[in-house]
Amino acid sequence: MDAKEFASRYLVDRRNTDSSKWDGLRAKFGEDGLIPLWIADMEFRTCEAITEALAERVRHGVFGYSVVPDEYYAVFSDWMESRYGWRVARESVRFSTGCVTAIAWMIHAFTKPGDACMILTPVYYPFHNVVTNNGRKLVTVPLKYEAGYFTMDYEAIGKAIRENSVKMFIQCSPHNPGQTGKKICPFSRCCGR
Ligand SMILES: Cc1ncc(COP(=O)(O)O)c(C=O)c1O
Repeated sequence: MDAKEFASRYLVDRRNTDSSKWDGLRAKFGEDGLIPLWIADMEFRTCEAITEALAERVRHGVFGYSVVPDEYYAVFSDWMESRYGWRVARESVRFSTGCVTAIAWMIHAFTKPGDACMILTPVYYPFHNVVTNNGRKLVTVPLKYEAGYFTMDYEAIGKAIRENSVKMFIQCSPHNPGQTGKKICPFSRCCGR
C-alpha cells in the first residue's frame, strides 16, 4: 500500500470529536489554529483487525467486571519472542492500565520515599510527575544533542548517580522525544534505537 492509498483508507479528521489533541488546544494553549505537536496522538484510524475485535466485544453488550485472561499473557509472550527472542514467563508479567501507572508501581516496589530516581531529559512529562508525585527525589540528566541526534551522556549519568545515590533509573525506550537514525539506547535489542 503506498502513502496515498494509506491516507485515503486511514486518515481521519479528528476535529470536533472531543479529541484532546485538536479540540483541547484552546483549553491548553489559549488559542485555536495551532499545529498540535505537543501530543503523541495519531491522525490514522486503527487497523481493521483491532476495530473488529473491539466491535465484537461491544456487540456482546455486557460490560461487567473482567479478569485478565490467560490469552493476554500468551499473546504478549509470543510478541516478545517473535520480535525480540525473549520468551517471557507468565509470572514475570503484571497487568497495568498504562505505562505511567506501571512506573508508579515500580517506584513503590523498588524505592522508598525520598530516594532519588533518575530520568533523561527532555522526556514525556509524566516521567517527571510520577517521581515527584510519589514523594521521591527527581534527578534529571540532559540528553546530549549532537549532530542532529540525542544521545546518552554517560559521564553526566555516572556523576548524577554517584552524587545523588540514585536508586532507580527510569529509561524511556524508545525515547520520547528523540530522533531515529542513530542508537540512543544501550538496550538496542529491544527497539533498535
Ligand atoms: C514515552 C511515553 N510513555 C507512555 C505514554 C503513555 O502511555 P500510557 O497511556 O500507557 O500511560 C506516552 C504517550 O505519549 C509516551 O510518550
